[in-house]
Amino acid sequence: MKRVPMFVELCAGTAAVSLRLARSKQRAPLSRMGSKVGYADAILERLGLQAGQGADAYLWCEPDLGCRSLLASYTDRRLARAAAKIIREWVTDDVDQRALWLKLRREGPVRSIEAREVARWAFTTVRTMPQALARGATDGDYLPPVAPSGAKRWQPTAPAHRMDMLPELRAQIMPDATKLEPTVVPSGTWVYIDPPYVGSAGYESELPRSAVVSMARAWHAAGANVAISEAEPISALMEDGWHSHSLTRERNGQHRTFSKQKDEWLTLSRSPMGQLSLWQVGKGVPPVWHREAPANLDGAAVPHPAIPTDQQSSFSVSSNKECEDAR
Ligand SMILES: C[S@@+](CC[C@H](N)C(=O)[O-])C[C@H]1O[C@@H](n2cnc3c(N)ncnc32)[C@H](O)[C@@H]1O
Repeated sequence: MKRVPMFVELCAGTAAVSLRLARSKQRAPLSRMGSKVGYADAILERLGLQAGQGADAYLWCEPDLGCRSLLASYTDRRLARAAAKIIREWVTDDVDQRALWLKLRREGPVRSIEAREVARWAFTTVRTMPQALARGATDGDYLPPVAPSGAKRWQPTAPAHRMDMLPELRAQIMPDATKLEPTVVPSGTWVYIDPPYVGSAGYESELPRSAVVSMARAWHAAGANVAISEAEPISALMEDGWHSHSLTRERNGQHRTFSKQKDEWLTLSRSPMGQLSLWQVGKGVPPVWHREAPANLDGAAVPHPAIPTDQQSSFSVSSNKECEDAR
């Protein structure tokens, strides 16, 4: 199956869907509020894509510098492995994990994208109460390694092992999706938007529904296929003739631990692909079973994507430079 020319996650977080597109069964080194790890396969299927199909280039937007440092490690194997090594060096038999967590988190917010900061953010995030990450963690929010049920939450050197296993992807990483101005995108480009859900709290940056709708329309007008996750279909786009699909029953793995959010919908600029269950058919979605290749994956020349003019020189889908820019 041909690779997608460009896969864009405008609200990337840990970019769980991009990772799964890049490599079947690939997971982010850590989970975070709103992560789509459990829905990634279902989302790709509804887009008409396959886990492991790959993309020639990725574009990820994320304002949280900690997350961006993690995303940078997806583009640079040396950075990912250096961060993993640092975590292993921190964790020795005589070091108390809670004391180490406390010391590292007291160093404050991530300052730069380099191996020690990637390691520090990943290490402390894994060991912080998920709910506390959403409201702003304090020194009392250490997540012990073993749950009251006896279930193991993390291994002593987590997430070093997962960082060692990351693929190395060609990606550009930007802080703010609303600053992008898509003009023309490579044919077959997919844009996936997983914004902070309306009414949810805990993200550093808020993104109103109106901004999500504007971004979706702008990328679609530029030639991209667009899909948006939310707890409901996006009515403004449905009025434009877009399609919706409930993912609520298509989650893999355990139920969400970070939120009470139960309903999961995709709003898509084209009809959902893949096999729909009887339940979906009952919801009025046509029973389709088609797996068309995304349109025009013909390797045509790739025009520049939607990077602001002053940053254009640093990004070309046909070069390797974006990997360097992301480091
Ligand atoms: C639901 S989470 C995305 C989770 C992601 N799909 C994953 O699998 O980890 C929403 C993300 O949108 C980000 N966000 C908020 N405002 C944004 C903006 N203006 N541009 C890009 N991302 C933004 C938040 O920081 C947060 O990480």
